[in-house]
Amino acid sequence: MNQVLPIHAPPATPRIEPPLALLAELTHRCPLQCPYCANPLELERAAAELDTATWKRVLDEAAALGVLQVHFSGGEPTARRDLLDLVRHAAAAGLYSNLITSGVILDAGSLGALAEAGLDHVQLSFQDADAAQADRIGGYRNGHARKLVVARLIREAGLPLTANFVVHRQNLDRLPEMLALGEEIGASRIEVAHVQYYGWGLVNRAALMPSRTQLEQANAAVAQARSDLRGRITIDYVVPDYYAARPKACMGGWARRIINITPSGLALPCHAAETLTGLHFPSVRTTSLAAVWHDDPGFARFRGTGWMPEPCRSCDQREIDWGGCRCQALALTGDASATDPACALSPHHALMADAVAAADALADGPAPDLVYRRIRTAALVR
Ligand code: SF4
Ligand code: FES
Repeated sequence: MNQVLPIHAPPATPRIEPPLALLAELTHRCPLQCPYCANPLELERAAAELDTATWKRVLDEAAALGVLQVHFSGGEPTARRDLLDLVRHAAAAGLYSNLITSGVILDAGSLGALAEAGLDHVQLSFQDADAAQADRIGGYRNGHARKLVVARLIREAGLPLTANFVVHRQNLDRLPEMLALGEEIGASRIEVAHVQYYGWGLVNRAALMPSRTQLEQANAAVAQARSDLRGRITIDYVVPDYYAARPKACMGGWARRIINITPSGLALPCHAAETLTGLHFPSVRTTSLAAVWHDDPGFARFRGTGWMPEPCRSCDQREIDWGGCRCQALALTGDASATDPACALSPHHALMADAVAAADALADGPAPDLVYRRIRTAALVR
């Protein structure tokens, strides 16, 4: 299925703007086991993780490159003992810092210390509004109850809060309750994110993809909540690719806005870029962030519009969606440089329609069993 890609395509844009954000995946360790995790199937072990000094150098290099925001992510970033040190270092470097967390191992003491160290924002993930269902999806007993406590502690620490809900077939019917929960816990922003179907999400696609009816109801629930909460809470919501006529600009466009660093130090244009067989990405252990951004052939491969085939090449959307998602194109067509099948103009768009038809056909029956994000299940599905 995978193809070998040439890595010598020149960047299409002569001037490369600095990245806006650094996504620092500090660790793949996590107490939860969500079956749609954005981490790769091949999870990195703790022994392979970058040390504190290297992360600090990377943060300094990011600031020097022009990066404005660092998102501390994982896995579960609070599993790193040096998180406080890294947050303090990011603040000293002038970076706006966001903690993307499941919250379950935070407490009042650690949150107070993080706020004092200069953390600017927390994004807290929820698996559902129903506690039993949330704990089942996350594979973590009493996790939901813990998150409700942590949400209060985040607000008490004076930190702005975004509530993140990943939605799919098995929880989408409770979206109104999730939106209400976001309001109840004092979130200033609610992010409703449909599962992305690559990696773990693709493994579980038949169990997670919503039916068209569910999606239409969800769209209506978001529209209602946006109207009810206008001026108080911002709701981020994007219709999923499988039901859209045009793709989203994945990561804001390949190597345009974001650098993703894996726990072991691989620099990537997106969290799934390692699936692109034939592309090789540098390690920040040996390559500066500036060299990664400006000179790396893997970053240049799909940057801009010069790599695009038709119909993208002559499409008036090409500098809006930047051709969609390369990883999705590879996962579904076997060709990373193909037009994203999410686009109705793609010759492969029928692949999306087939997946939607399969989801609709399954809608009234029992969902297939979930494959949870565990190192041992990864070996079975790869
Ligand atoms: Fe985007 Fe390409 Fe589709 Fe145009 S043809 S909308 S650029 S994916
Ligand atoms: Fe890699 Fe979209 S996830 S380009």
